[in-house]
Amino acid sequence: MSMLDRWMDELALIGGGGNGVNRFAWTPELMSACQWLVDRLREIGLTSEIDAAGNVVGQWIPADGDSSRGKAVLVGSHLDTVPNGGRFDGTLGVLSALEAIRRLKEEGFRPHRPLWIAAFNDEEGARFDTSMFGSTAFVGDDLTSLKDRVDVHGVRLDDAMAQRGFDFAEIPKASRIDEIGCYLEMHIEQGPRMQAMHLDTAVVSAIVGIAGYRVALRGQTNHAGTTPMAERQDALAGASRVVLALRDAALAAGDVTANVGRIEVRPGGTNVVPGEAVFFIDIRTANPDKFTTLDGTVRDTVASIAADERLNVEVTSTYAHAPVPMDAALQDLLAHEMTAQGLAWTSLTSGAGHDAQVLAQHVPTGMLFVPSDGGISHAPQEFTSPEQREPGVRVLTNAVRTLLLRESAGRDSARPNDTT
Ligand code: HGY
Ligand code: MN
Ligand code: MN
Repeated sequence: MSMLDRWMDELALIGGGGNGVNRFAWTPELMSACQWLVDRLREIGLTSEIDAAGNVVGQWIPADGDSSRGKAVLVGSHLDTVPNGGRFDGTLGVLSALEAIRRLKEEGFRPHRPLWIAAFNDEEGARFDTSMFGSTAFVGDDLTSLKDRVDVHGVRLDDAMAQRGFDFAEIPKASRIDEIGCYLEMHIEQGPRMQAMHLDTAVVSAIVGIAGYRVALRGQTNHAGTTPMAERQDALAGASRVVLALRDAALAAGDVTANVGRIEVRPGGTNVVPGEAVFFIDIRTANPDKFTTLDGTVRDTVASIAADERLNVEVTSTYAHAPVPMDAALQDLLAHEMTAQGLAWTSLTSGAGHDAQVLAQHVPTGMLFVPSDGGISHAPQEFTSPEQREPGVRVLTNAVRTLLLRESAGRDSARPNDTT
């Protein structure tokens, strides 16, 4: 069994066991996975810590200790999961980065500039709808508005952090993007395209734009048998109409996805007309122009159906991450490494969101994919075999080696004026 396979098996046990893997922000399971990674990083000779935003950050400083030489190459992904998630989403990217470092050290490689590795906290946002939380803190963007978010048990985000010994007010200390020259992330594709095209790897060309909303519809709780159908103010009927209207709009658009994966209905009696429905919308497109129209589409659809059903409505934006292209020079580097190894590869847009789309707003960023068996993800059946992941690990290792041989980040990007 390879070291990577062993690491995969060990991590799968943390928050695993039942139906898939469950590691959510600021829970003992995720903190335990973070500590596991801290320990592995120290074992291979890196410094490592869990920063003020809950990110694990490890550093490999050039032998002469001169970490001022050139901005760091950063590699990584995330260890948190969706409910009953898979073993590979995020985790494979973190462990492939760890394996790349292990291989480079094993061959006696000496970096000319620092290498950092990160497991960004709460990429999924599964507990507080705070997707890309850790990477957003790492790039220095403001998270103040998230402070009083509550989970399904009514626990506030800042209290959940305090329970784990973290202070919400300290989050800005996690901002270290100024020390980073470029970012690379390996990830499973989480879809069926690569397997259908018999591909070993893919270069990610761009990442989809994602917008999330919390919608509360309030009508009138009433008797299911005596309330005339035409007089009901049925919040669940309204929510159901919104779900299907957004689905039909996405189908008609062709390059939009719309999903409602979570709904809470109150009071919840079989013989009671539901007076309240709270549900969460996730809508996406890789088309930058269309992304700017999604907010209007959501709000207009909800407002018109609420009016028609005589419901009060409250729409709150929970997250919004713009679609972003990956850096052309890093795409070329990844493509060069894939071609050099004779791999079957292509260039794909990511329909999944990633921390890379946050980093890409600040530094040259590249991503590569390995296949997902059966195209399944965000489910316990998620699987990528050792044979499917090894080509990606080799490409990542070689790309990182190339980047680390540069004295500065100046050539990391296709952006001509990058003088870092
Ligand atoms: O939702 C996504 O696409 C990612 O898994 N956070
Ligand atoms: Mn995911
Ligand atoms: Mn992911």
